[in-house]
Amino acid sequence: MIIATESLSIERIRQNLTAQIVGRQLYLFGEVSSTNSMLARLARGGAREGTVVVAEGQTAGRGRLGKAWFSPAGVNLYASTLFRPPLVPSEVTVFSFIASLALFDAIQEEGAKPAIKWPNDVLVSRKKVAGVLAEAGSSGEQVSYVILGVGVNLNIEGAALTAALGDGGLAATSLCEVVGREIDRSVFTGRFLTLLDEWFQIYSSRGARVILQAWRDREITTGRRVEVREEPERFDGRVLGVNGGGHLVVQDAHKRLRRVVSGEIRFLD
Ligand code: BTN
Repeated sequence: MIIATESLSIERIRQNLTAQIVGRQLYLFGEVSSTNSMLARLARGGAREGTVVVAEGQTAGRGRLGKAWFSPAGVNLYASTLFRPPLVPSEVTVFSFIASLALFDAIQEEGAKPAIKWPNDVLVSRKKVAGVLAEAGSSGEQVSYVILGVGVNLNIEGAALTAALGDGGLAATSLCEVVGREIDRSVFTGRFLTLLDEWFQIYSSRGARVILQAWRDREITTGRRVEVREEPERFDGRVLGVNGGGHLVVQDAHKRLRRVVSGEIRFLD
């Protein structure tokens, strides 16, 4: 059973939002297909940097690598933020790390002990509680926008996750289950957007290297034995680290170094 919690409120999100750029324009919808898709339309129509789309539920929520993102209404957070950073496409992966850093901090503030799994999953007790879908538009060599969409399991019950996701549900969790109380979604949303703005300011003023170092300090992928799936390839290896472009560097069973740009990994140990 999915029990809807108190509705999201723009006023209460704003009461918890102190930001320079993020949330300058904030839209809250009941149900949309996907907050990323809706924001991409707004971006192509000229929406300004910092525009945020939040929805109570999504009918076609999307995850990385063409997967669906389970998006029941009234219990979780589905939010997308528009940025217009002066980047080339190869810089987008490290830029996207600002989202998992903000999620890490927001989840920690609720009393949980999060960790980041490459590229942008946030885990608690080895189970996924949040993910990031980064999508960019470009014109020529230059990025014209980056949308960072986050999905966070806040108040969905573990049983509902398992019922909806089958075996995949066993690898997922919800923040309310971890901390043992209901999460105030409007407060969490405002805090998360504030933290996203802070990490964006750090990227803008101090650069990608500082973001990469902060992300490395919070990630649990390096050193692990993993199965890598980067269609059509699949191989096992040990993660040596993440390079300057945010790509995973894995040593395979033949001691060859392999660079993983957009696949997914499963921990084997
Ligand atoms: C992943 O871990 O695969 C990424 C999940 C990202 C889901 C969020 S929910 C809000 C935004 N809109 C979408 O359609 N997807 C992202």
